[in-house]
Amino acid sequence: MDERIITPEEIEGDIFESSIRPESLDEYIGQEEIKENLRVFIEAAKMRGESLDHVLLYGPPGLGKTTLAHIIANELDSNLKTASGPALEKSGDLAAVLSNLEPGDVLFIDEIHRMPKFVEEILYPAMEDFELDIIIGADSKSRSIKIDLPPFTLVGATTRAGDLSSPLRDRFGIISKLNYYKEEELQQIVKRTGRVLNMSINGEAALEIARRCRKTPRVANRLFKRVRDFALVKGTGTIDYDITIDSLERLKVDRYGLDQVDIEYLEALINKFNGGPVGIETIATAIGEEVTTIEDVVEPFLLQEGFIKRTPRGRVATDKAYAHLKINRQSELF
Ligand SMILES: Nc1ncnc2c1ncn2[C@@H]1O[C@H](COP(=O)(O)OP(=O)(O)OP(=O)(O)O)[C@@H](O)[C@H]1O
Ligand SMILES: [Mg+2]
Repeated sequence: MDERIITPEEIEGDIFESSIRPESLDEYIGQEEIKENLRVFIEAAKMRGESLDHVLLYGPPGLGKTTLAHIIANELDSNLKTASGPALEKSGDLAAVLSNLEPGDVLFIDEIHRMPKFVEEILYPAMEDFELDIIIGADSKSRSIKIDLPPFTLVGATTRAGDLSSPLRDRFGIISKLNYYKEEELQQIVKRTGRVLNMSINGEAALEIARRCRKTPRVANRLFKRVRDFALVKGTGTIDYDITIDSLERLKVDRYGLDQVDIEYLEALINKFNGGPVGIETIATAIGEEVTTIEDVVEPFLLQEGFIKRTPRGRVATDKAYAHLKINRQSELF
């Protein structure tokens, strides 16, 4: 499957992201509860002159975890050091990162659920007592030494909180779940991106992108960038409603944020299998996709938005799917 413009995961064209990231809590739109709590905890830590408790951020891709980690460091007036779970392959990799920390640093570990267990165990004393336990030498001559670490704040991010071991989870004092955004918030995010990138977009146009971005800021910004290209080349140079609708149609992202793949899936389910129930393998074959692709990247959004249902006998199209595709349900009378 080609890269889809509505995918919430980071793709190659997203390298522009760091330039449009909000840098303070005030600029960060939405997630009000998380922001309010963080404001208090950050303020309190500063008043006490202590490091902020360790923070775990979890939630679906593209909702602003990495952005928030940067903001936490900014608000603390601290330096951010970054690492990523899968890259910490050996205990020594993590030991090196930890022993380079300076007092008050924020250490951001992305995809923290992907650290090997024996690496993770090094984190426990580091988080709890700011201590690094390392073993030097081998066999009978090996001994364990303790090194004091400066106080620091670990910010961990994960899309799969369920994959985190409980000893690790328990060592975070602040655990925040990021939620999908409301339309008005996404509209504000798009308008803000327009200001940062120096391309104005009116309210109606921003709202239309907000409706079609699968509730995800990363997708909203990506759609904004493509619409901006159309406006520049084919339009008036500013982004209005008409050019936005026209661009989104060309990009084949419909008013619910469904793309060509989603539509093919629903059309197959309804037209070829009378709306189901039908097994996932059968649908996969019908539209020429892998079963795992369907399960991991196509169905979650369709399920969440109520276009399909999972039943013990297979997938079923809902009334919403029929209505959206403008197809009448076949009568089951005969
Ligand atoms: N609350 C927000 N306000 C404004 N922009 C936001 C907000 N949240 C996210 N964004 C924008 O969305 C983009 C993606 O956010 P970010 O990289 O932080 O997501 P993530 O949760 O770390 O995703 P992943 O799970 O893939 O690592 C950022 O470039 C940022 O500009
Ligand atoms: Mg991230």
